[in-house]
Amino acid sequence: MAKETLSITDNRTGKQYEIPIEEGGVIRAAALRDIKTSADDFGLMSYDPAFTNTASCRSRITFIDGDKGILRYRGYPIEELAEKSNYLEVAYLIVKGELPDRKHYAAWESNIKTHTMIHENVKKFMEGFRYDAHPMGMLVSTIGALSTFYPEAAQIHDLESRRLQTRRLIGKVPTLAAFAYRHTRGLPYVYPDNSLSYTGNFLSMLFRMTEREYKPNPTLERALDVLFILHADHEQNCSANAMRSVGSSQVDPYSAVAAATAALYGPLHGGANEAVIRMLVEIGSPKNVPEFIKGVKEGKRRLMGFGHRVYKNYDPRAKIVKKIAYEVFEVTGRNPLIDISLELEKIALEDDYFVSRKLYPNVDFYTGVTYQAMGFPMQMFPVLFAIPRTSGWMAQWAEMVRDPEQKIARPRQVYIGEQTRHWTPIEHRPEPTMREDAVSDQI
Ligand code: ACO
Repeated sequence: MAKETLSITDNRTGKQYEIPIEEGGVIRAAALRDIKTSADDFGLMSYDPAFTNTASCRSRITFIDGDKGILRYRGYPIEELAEKSNYLEVAYLIVKGELPDRKHYAAWESNIKTHTMIHENVKKFMEGFRYDAHPMGMLVSTIGALSTFYPEAAQIHDLESRRLQTRRLIGKVPTLAAFAYRHTRGLPYVYPDNSLSYTGNFLSMLFRMTEREYKPNPTLERALDVLFILHADHEQNCSANAMRSVGSSQVDPYSAVAAATAALYGPLHGGANEAVIRMLVEIGSPKNVPEFIKGVKEGKRRLMGFGHRVYKNYDPRAKIVKKIAYEVFEVTGRNPLIDISLELEKIALEDDYFVSRKLYPNVDFYTGVTYQAMGFPMQMFPVLFAIPRTSGWMAQWAEMVRDPEQKIARPRQVYIGEQTRHWTPIEHRPEPTMREDAVSDQI
C-alpha cells in the first residue's frame, strides 16, 4: 500500500523530509518549519493571501463539494432540508448536530421565543441612529451593544452560558433587524408576537400596521423560511472566518457576532444580491442582454450573481431560490426584472466564455428579485442574510471554543519593509517622497 506521506527535498541543503498526509489530502503547515538551512533558521512557511488553499479548522458542520454543486448541513442535503424542514429545526441541527425529536423541538422553540424581546434600553439605543441609517450598520452596532447587557456572556468556557447566549442571539436578531427596518421608515417598533412562527413573527415586526392581529401570508412566510434555511451556514466564508478569528481572542459571542455581521456587510459577501438588482435595473430590458454580455466578455463588466470561489457548478441554493421566486410572484405579482435574469442565465449558460470558466448562477442571482417582490428595500438584503446566519456563526464559534487545537488566530507575515534605520533630528531629514504603500501624500 502506498504511504500517506509527502517527500520533500530541500535543494538548498540537499536534505530530505517526509511529511504525513492526513485526512486524505492535508499537510500541516507547521511541518514546514522543520525545513531549515541552519539551526537558527526560522524554517519554511506557506504564503496564502486570502486563504485560498489553507484549512483553518476541522469542522463537522457544513460540507460543500463545489465541483459537484453539493451542500449539506451536518450531512443532510440542502434540497431535503429546504423541502421538508423549517428554519428553527435547521438552526437546532446546525447548533446541536442532530435533528430534534418532537420534545426537543418544542423545548428549543420555546427557549428561542423566550428571548425575542429586547431590553427597552436597546430600543432607546436604536432610536439614537440617524433617520437614514443603514439597517445593517444599525444591526452591527446593536448586536455589539448587547454584550454590555449580558456581561456573563464573557464566560465562554461555561457550557450553560454558551447555550444561553446562542438562544438569546437567535431569538433577538430578528427583533433587532425589524426595529432597524422600522427605524429607517420612521415607523413605531412592533413588539414580538410569540404566537407566530419564527419567520411569521419577523414579518409581523416588519410589516404590521394598525391591524389588531397580524396574519402573515403563508406562501411568503414559507418562502422566507426556506431562504433562511439556505443561508444558515456556508462553512469557512468571510464572516464565519471573522466569527472564529475574533472569537479566538476569547471575547464574548455578541462582540464576535458583531464582527461577523460587519464582514457580511461588504458587497463581496452579503451585499452581492443588491449589486445584482442594480445590474438588472441598468440592463433595463431582455433585449439589451446580448449587448451587456458582450461587455462582460470584453472584460468591461462582471455578471453579478454569477461565479463562486467554491462552486464550479450550479450553486444548489440558486436552483431552490429560482423556484421560490415563482411561488412568491404568485402572491406578489411578477417582478419584471426576472425576465432579464432568465435571459442572462440562458445566454450565459450557452456561451463558451462562461462555460469554459465554470461560471454558473450563485445564490445571489435570484434572491434579490425575490426579496424585492416581497417588499424589502435593497438595504435590508444583507440583514435578511445575517438573521439565519447567526445560527451558523454560533455553531462555528462553539466548535472553535471546544477545539483543543485552536488558539488565538494569529497569521504570520512575509515582512517586505525597511530593515533597521536610525532616527535623525527633523532638521536633517530629506523631504519625504511618496511611497508606494502610503495611504496618501496628503496629510
Ligand atoms: N462575470 C464575468 N466573468 C467572471 C465572473 C463574473 N461574474 N466571475 C468570474 N469571472 C471570470 C474572471 O474574469 C476570470 O476570468 P479570466 O480567467 O479570464 O481572468 C475567471 O472567471 C475566474 O474568476 P476569479 O475572479 O479568479 O474567481 P474568484 O473565485 O476569485 O471569484 C467571485 C469568485 C468573487 C464570486 C466572482 O465570480 C465574482 O466576482 N462574481 C460576481 C459577484 C458575485 O455574484 N458575488 C456573490 C458570490 S456568492 C456569495 O458570496 C454569497
